[in-house]
Amino acid sequence: MKITLIHGQNHKGSTYRIARKTAEKTGGEIDEFFLPKDFSEGCLGCLACLHRGREYCPNSEKVGKIFGSMLSADVIIISSPTYVMEMTSHLKGFFEHIYTAWLAHRPEEAMFSKTAVVVSTAAAMGMAGVTKSMAKQMFYLGAAKVYRLAFRVMASDWDGISDKTKAEIESKTDKLARKIISKSGRVKPGFKTRFIFEMMRAFQKKNDYAPLDKEYWENKNWLGKSRPWKGG
Ligand SMILES: Cc1cc2nc3c(=O)[nH]c(=O)nc-3n(C[C@H](O)[C@H](O)[C@H](O)COP(=O)(O)O)c2cc1C
Repeated sequence: MKITLIHGQNHKGSTYRIARKTAEKTGGEIDEFFLPKDFSEGCLGCLACLHRGREYCPNSEKVGKIFGSMLSADVIIISSPTYVMEMTSHLKGFFEHIYTAWLAHRPEEAMFSKTAVVVSTAAAMGMAGVTKSMAKQMFYLGAAKVYRLAFRVMASDWDGISDKTKAEIESKTDKLARKIISKSGRVKPGFKTRFIFEMMRAFQKKNDYAPLDKEYWENKNWLGKSRPWKGG
C-alpha cells in the first residue's frame, strides 16, 4: 500500500498524530509532506493552469511533487487543525493549485480508484465543517472514497487531551484502518461521482470557456463511451 500524507501544518501536534496513526495502522510506504515547509504559495490567479496547462503554473514544480505523490498513492491522508473554523490557509493554497484537476475540468484517471482520509481537530468547534470542506476537495478531485475523522480535543496539544478522547481516537483510527485494508484494491467511485461526471460531460460538450478542458475530455474519449473508472 502506498500512502501520501499531507499535513496542512508544519508542527507535530494532535492533528498530525491522528493522521500519522491512521497511516501507520493502515500500513505501507508513507510519503509525507508538511505545509508550509513543502509548499507555502497561494494561488496568483494567473489562470495559466486553466488556459495553458498545470505545467505553466509559476509554482508547478513544488505542486507537481505533492500532486504526483497523490496520484501514485493508494491512500491519501490529509490533515489540518481547525483554524478560525476553516482548514489552514496553506492547505487551502495547495488545493487552489490543483483545482484544474477537478471533475469540472481535467480530472486524473488515477484519482478514481483512491481512498482519501481527511483529519481535523479543534479545541471546541469547527472540526466537522473543516473535514467536510477537505472532503469536498477530495471528492471533486475524483477520489472514489473519502472518510472523515473529526475530533473535538478540548486541548491545544496532544498531552492536554483526556484519556477518554485518546481512547476514542485509538478506536476510530483502528476501525478506519481495518476498513481501508479490507477494501484495498476494490475501491470504486459511487453514484454521486458518476452523476457529477455525467453533468460535467454534458457541460464539456458545449464548453467554449476553457478549450483545453474540452480537448482533454475529447482526447480521453469521455465525450464518447470511455469513463475514467473503467480504465480507458
Ligand atoms: C490560529 C488558530 C485558530 C484556531 N481556531 C479554532 C477554532 O476555530 N475552533 C476551535 O475549536 N479551535 C481553534 N483553534 C485551536 C486548535 O484548532 C486546536 O487546539 C487543535 O486541536 C490544534 O491542533 P494541533 O495540535 O494539530 O495544532 C485555533 C488555533 C489556532 C492556532
